[in-house]
Amino acid sequence: MSNFRVTSEILTENCMTASSNEKNNSKISKFIFNLPLYMLKIKNKEIKYDEDEDLILDRTKTGELLIEHSISTELQLVGLQVWRGAFLLADYILDNPSIFKNQNVIELGAGVGLTSIVTSMLAREVTCTDINSHGIIELIQRNFDRNSQYINAKFNIMELDFLNCNWSSDLTKKITESTIILAADVIYDNDITEGFVNTLSKILNSNIKRTVYVALEKRFVFTIADLDSVAPMYEEFIRCITQRNLNWNIQTIDINFPQYFQYNRVKQLVLMKIYNKNN
Ligand SMILES: C[S@@+](CC[C@H](N)C(=O)[O-])C[C@H]1O[C@@H](n2cnc3c(N)ncnc32)[C@H](O)[C@@H]1O
Repeated sequence: MSNFRVTSEILTENCMTASSNEKNNSKISKFIFNLPLYMLKIKNKEIKYDEDEDLILDRTKTGELLIEHSISTELQLVGLQVWRGAFLLADYILDNPSIFKNQNVIELGAGVGLTSIVTSMLAREVTCTDINSHGIIELIQRNFDRNSQYINAKFNIMELDFLNCNWSSDLTKKITESTIILAADVIYDNDITEGFVNTLSKILNSNIKRTVYVALEKRFVFTIADLDSVAPMYEEFIRCITQRNLNWNIQTIDINFPQYFQYNRVKQLVLMKIYNKNN
């Protein structure tokens, strides 16, 4: 994998940088989000009615997540940054509490942990995973600690490497118990994409009904070979699935649902729902 530096667009679209964490050479940023109606804790004195006797609710109440992350990294360390896919998935979760409430959920390639933290507001148990490299597991733990006031689920932070499907018994147990699998922006490199498809294939090869939500941003490049703009990583993902003849149902979810976090919901963002047709 090459050594060139990459920078997520998120910081130009979103947050206030709150402070630096010199020890870990990172920033701690405040990510503001609109609280969905079902999360507003309404006190009696705040209840007001309009002339039609309808309840007037202040829909502008916001929450804020404090997330430690890097600003710019080499390609191998992109998990230390925050990406649009994480916000898209977080928005979908906040907008669909009935899907996630009281469920056991596992996130793959969780990066700084933002999507898992949002899931922990609703789910029963969340297992947040990534590779155990460059302190990412410890970073996720610190981010969970920083946002403890929002966390209602039991949570576990564990290593899961797409390139190694020999899972520990603890990890196997957590995967077996999970009915929802999340992954945001993990499709950006051929080997990782292939490992990701292997991992999903092992997770979905079960009698238990499991649903995977994958968020990604199609990153287009112009190639001379194609004489066109193509999204090679997205195409590699679809190719990997098709080539293996996996019995998966893949649906694209319309991303026109309400936005709770601040970021550019560009048209290249894709949200997919995947499940095994046999279940
Ligand atoms: C672009 S980042 C996305 C992070 C986060 N999900 C987000 O959307 O902000 C890609 C993630 O994939 C993880 N990753 C890379 N190689 C992996 C592997 N072999 N197994 C599991 N995760 C991996 C990275 O550590 C990183 O967290």
